[in-house]
Amino acid sequence: MSDEVLSFYDQLADSYHNLFTDWRHAIEWQGEALDTFIRGTAGFADAKGISLLDCSCGIGTQAIGLALRGYEVTATDLSPQSIERARKEAESIGATIRFGVADFRYLDRQVEGRFDVVLTADNAIPHLLGDEDLAAAARGLYAKTADGGLLVATIRDYDALVLEAQSGTLPRMLDNGTRLVFQVWEWSEDRKTYYTNQFILRADGSGWQTRNYRTPYRALLRKELTEFLREAGFSDIAWHMPEASGYYQPIVTARRV
Ligand SMILES: C[S@@+](CC[C@H](N)C(=O)[O-])C[C@H]1O[C@@H](n2cnc3c(N)ncnc32)[C@H](O)[C@@H]1O
Repeated sequence: MSDEVLSFYDQLADSYHNLFTDWRHAIEWQGEALDTFIRGTAGFADAKGISLLDCSCGIGTQAIGLALRGYEVTATDLSPQSIERARKEAESIGATIRFGVADFRYLDRQVEGRFDVVLTADNAIPHLLGDEDLAAAARGLYAKTADGGLLVATIRDYDALVLEAQSGTLPRMLDNGTRLVFQVWEWSEDRKTYYTNQFILRADGSGWQTRNYRTPYRALLRKELTEFLREAGFSDIAWHMPEASGYYQPIVTARRV
């Protein structure tokens, strides 16, 4: 499974910013939204000095935004190409971050230290399809959370999506009509998993170039993830929906006491 996910993100690393209307702007607003949410939930007065591990940082969307706000950020990801790009982007934007390649199923042996906040944002956990992998990831997240620390994980609202077996995302026309971005989802019969086909189409003057990237996801329900986190040792597990958090996906928080 990881090979499929790894090649999906390695291939996508150079184009990942094209999934956003304006990636630099996304860095800013995600940093602001998550900073407000984390400090509000954890009761930190100031971001300065808070150690944070973003263990699925991709090209750095949240890691860079939070580092710019004063968090001491360590950022890891399964995809070496994404980490290489994140490193360059952080340098060009002036964010100080410690980077590394790590699989969040094996964080206990691949990342040193424990953190006030462990973050995994934008639907990374549902790349794990099997119960054993999900249990290993929950244990990895727990191992890296300091005593009294907070886990923050954001995932798609699968509780709602499985009911309608949504067939993908609506196309977004960007860059004055020269870039078209959408996903087509192919569901398994039991609606427990689906394949995402990520399409990026670009007008090059003479026609349209199409790129398509494909990877599987598990439609992970809130009660399932809650149970994996509880089994790993987390307590105070709480779900925060977008209307309350101001973030665009449901967020689950949990504490290591
Ligand atoms: C949808 S992307 C989000 C990236 C980043 N958080 C953002 O919002 O730009 C999901 C990320 O999870 C990472 N990922 C998937 N499985 C992983 C695993 N087992 N361990 C660590 N990272 C993983 C992928 O490589 C990818 O960068």
